[in-house]
Amino acid sequence: MCGIIGAVGTRDVVPILLDGLRGLEYRGYDSAGLAVIDSTQRPVRERTRGKVTSLVEKLNARPLCGTTGIAHTRWATHGAPSERNAHPHVCGAKVAIAHNGIIENYETLRRELLATGAMLESETDSEVIAHLIAREIDADRSLLDSVAQACHRLEGAFAIEVASPKVPDALIVVRVGSPLVVGIGDGEAFVASALDALLDLTDQFVVLEEGDIAEVRCDGLRIFSLASPKREIKREVLKVEGKRHLKDKGEFDTFMHKEIHEQPEAAVRALESRISGTRVLQPVFGVAAERVLSRVRSVHIVAAGSSYHCGLIAKYWIEDVAGLPCQVEVASEFRYRKAVVLPGSLFVAISQSGETADTLAALRISRRLGFVASLAICNVPTSTLVRESNMTYLMQAGPEFSVASTKAISCSLVGLLLLTLLLGRSRGHSPDAEAEVVEALHSLDDDIREALALEPQIETLAAQLIHRNHALFLGRGPQYPVALEAALKLKEISYIHAEGYPAGELKHGPLALIDESMPVIVIAPKDDLIEKLASNVREVEARGGELIVFAGQDTSFAARSDMHVLPMPRVHELLAPIIYNVPLQLLAYHVARCKGTDIDQPRNLAKAVTVE
Ligand code: AGP
Repeated sequence: MCGIIGAVGTRDVVPILLDGLRGLEYRGYDSAGLAVIDSTQRPVRERTRGKVTSLVEKLNARPLCGTTGIAHTRWATHGAPSERNAHPHVCGAKVAIAHNGIIENYETLRRELLATGAMLESETDSEVIAHLIAREIDADRSLLDSVAQACHRLEGAFAIEVASPKVPDALIVVRVGSPLVVGIGDGEAFVASALDALLDLTDQFVVLEEGDIAEVRCDGLRIFSLASPKREIKREVLKVEGKRHLKDKGEFDTFMHKEIHEQPEAAVRALESRISGTRVLQPVFGVAAERVLSRVRSVHIVAAGSSYHCGLIAKYWIEDVAGLPCQVEVASEFRYRKAVVLPGSLFVAISQSGETADTLAALRISRRLGFVASLAICNVPTSTLVRESNMTYLMQAGPEFSVASTKAISCSLVGLLLLTLLLGRSRGHSPDAEAEVVEALHSLDDDIREALALEPQIETLAAQLIHRNHALFLGRGPQYPVALEAALKLKEISYIHAEGYPAGELKHGPLALIDESMPVIVIAPKDDLIEKLASNVREVEARGGELIVFAGQDTSFAARSDMHVLPMPRVHELLAPIIYNVPLQLLAYHVARCKGTDIDQPRNLAKAVTVE
């Protein structure tokens, strides 16, 4: 998954492209490049391994200038992150392309092109696109037709932008399976993988639909269907006002640290206008929700990564509190199996970005499977997931720049808890039970602040973990997915191998790993399972494991040389997963900080996983 941006106008577009790339770097950051049609009507490019800052340095040393250009920030799928594999790819002086997605049949196409004398320079799947287009240009087709013909040969998912001296004042762009939006400015036009990247340039947008091919000029946009490129299509122009979210770390050294600390305010926003007094307000999930939720007899949640862990927590809530069966599945599995959908089932997709390829594919598949409706729990209002779902809960977490998700988790859990309460209500549950949880939610921000106050102790403990190669996180009930999430966070940013386990499962295998070199982190709120968990802790103790216990009030854990106890705030049982997740984020953050890893942009990862 990568970010692409393009611009066509009457001024030099290089600064626009570079600025746009900075706004898209969350989609991939292992290499970057741009190409413009220069004053001699040739495509000229600069590319680099590494981040956009490296590209800027190269362009400072060797400036490029042009009024039509394309740019790309990459997350390597085919071929190493190197300058040679960085986009844009060119075919001689005929065409330059940037691509986001995956061309599944590229090996066949590559063989075919090599057999006909093409000189391919990279190991990427994308370079074949430039050569296929050039071949059509050589056959004297128009640029639009050339791109359309080339696209007919491609299998997979792709958003493509094309610049060519054949039409030096236009870009041709295509959307098939990867997002693309056109921004219409005053005498200029822009293209990007995400609308947010263009917000400082214009407030008029056309979101391209699947199978669209468009000619983007400074004085107009023409959209055609890739299936029949002679047929022009009209698409709605959306007015979206606002500024691109400032990438400002404030007083913090990383976005992750800032975003962890933004959670109290984010939780307030996630609840704003959604609860009142002792009730959840019915339109939380849109006006149709009351009618839809009254028909729901089961819930099927699909998501990836941390969002999947949120779904696992929600399963405990939905089954325990609302009394409805709930299945939770990783999106990449759901999309490739024959799911059995229970009658009256609600499809719930959770995604911070709303652009995760597997989750979007799952949503699209869900439409043919007879679900009652689809609900998106999402942080990005303009995302594909939101646009394609029947109902939406916007997390209101604010922009999350750190690759490691933090505040979006708290906010999506808030949404899932509200969903649980509304499902319970639609099944005739007592308003008192709802009132008790809603009252607890009113102080969620304070509870999170209390958990954040443990930071100095966590920082000290983190320093002791940096030379460990492994760590085990244990929880029971809804704290088991919290353990999974904590393990993901630690491995993602500190590169320490970590596993989350249901504590009761320990004796079925993982206990064999325990010795004095294995830190075991335990999530221990005061709940019905605390005694069971305490026995599991004793099993670890007896084998010499080093314990770190995040302990609820009135639990019996006492600090000793081999057991660190962090006292957690007294919280409502249902809110415990939200609150206990917070200090575990801090633990991962401080371990990574002590180790000196790139916390906001960990190696090999990207913020939005827009390829499968
Ligand atoms: C979380 O820290 C990860 N970076 C990752 O697992 C993420 O949650 C996953 O890729 C899903 O993203 P989404 O919520 O945007 O769909």
